[in-house]
Amino acid sequence: MAVSNLRCRECDATYPLEARYACERCFGPLEVVYDHAQLAGGDVGELRRRIQAGPQNIWRYADFLPLVDGAPGPSGRLTSRVGLPAGCTPLIRADRLANALGLREVWVKNDAANPTHSFKDRVVSVAAARARELGFHTIACASTGNLAGSVAAYGAAMGLESYVFIPADLEEQKILSTGVYGTNLVAVKGTYDDVNRLCTELAAERDWAFVNVNLRPYYAEGSKTLAFEIAEQLGFELPDRCVVPVASGSLFTKLAKGFGEWTDLGLIDGSLPAMNGAQAEGCAPVARAYAAGQDFCSPVKPDTIAKSLAIGNPADGPYALDVARSSGGSVTAVSDEEIVEGISLLARTTGVFTETAGGVTTAVLKRLAESGEIDTDERVVLVITGDGLKTLDAASGTFETCEINPTVEAFEALGADRAREASVR
Ligand SMILES: Cc1ncc(COP(=O)(O)O)c(C=O)c1O
Ligand SMILES: [Zn+2]
Repeated sequence: MAVSNLRCRECDATYPLEARYACERCFGPLEVVYDHAQLAGGDVGELRRRIQAGPQNIWRYADFLPLVDGAPGPSGRLTSRVGLPAGCTPLIRADRLANALGLREVWVKNDAANPTHSFKDRVVSVAAARARELGFHTIACASTGNLAGSVAAYGAAMGLESYVFIPADLEEQKILSTGVYGTNLVAVKGTYDDVNRLCTELAAERDWAFVNVNLRPYYAEGSKTLAFEIAEQLGFELPDRCVVPVASGSLFTKLAKGFGEWTDLGLIDGSLPAMNGAQAEGCAPVARAYAAGQDFCSPVKPDTIAKSLAIGNPADGPYALDVARSSGGSVTAVSDEEIVEGISLLARTTGVFTETAGGVTTAVLKRLAESGEIDTDERVVLVITGDGLKTLDAASGTFETCEINPTVEAFEALGADRAREASVR
């Protein structure tokens, strides 16, 4: 077992592996610490083979995840215990997108291809498995939409009771694709930050595993699997740059942690990728702090179509700033109009239809390409974290539909009209 304890990110105080998320001494966030020195007897080749022989899901990286009892072997024992296998999503070479942006090598990591259509299945897999190890019977969360669907689905798959708390004004598709799993769905009249505050209070009162509150240290580790997968799919190599959406900053910072852990172990060579965070202008606390040269984020009140990224007071904001700066990246915000264009650009050039968060990420990639921040011969990974079918309104009005009578003449007349229009233009 490689997992050792919890440690405060601020003062280094250590704690046992409990359902605990804040330091008693300084209130700093806690993080899981591992001792990887003895993994595979320190033999990198053996470690790679062990990973490659693992199941086709995130549990192939179990040596790097914070589960105590259940480290699964290739038999996939744990996999069956957690019900819905997440991960092993496609990494697609996107030459048409690269051409459109004047870049050489762009890859799309399509994490919409998870069981509930977002990357949240990675973090929930880990948190729910840890919740079960710790003896909880109920899992819960504060969500901007995708986490809600994931917690509800893993509750159903694992036979755990679930409570999900969302802002009442979420997209209808997100509400429908959550409620269907038979969860206790609570719509709170307020912003995500209000929902989060409520859940923090409830976590102190109830004997529930709030995946992103009292189980946050374990939950967050699940995002590292996205980094491991990208590296493995590139043949145990690193990209030069990753463009990643930022809400609380957990995914962004843990991707960097994942690349760091594998580099430290010698599983991958080379320097860590530049990490570019992506936010919407209507909720850009991290991008604003980055632009102002600050190392803290001032809270904002969100107003953007990218509701899944609408966290005005990001828990991991300062650490996200640190990752962006120390990796040679940045944090950029784009307008709602650019987000819609981003969704459309990605769909038209790759066949991948993303939700608004992916529109943010694609629009930031475009900005970085146009501004020259990306070297034209870099290998860039665009991290797409959610499915377009969950935010359908964002796509409406981005294309035309021609309506005709069911005759060949009508269709040909249309063609002629179109040709005439084009020649006039
Ligand atoms: C689709 C999508 N992408 C990215 C994120 C960002 O997650 P984090 O809070 O880890 O920054 C979220 C968070 O809810 C999300 O739903
Ligand atoms: Zn501390």
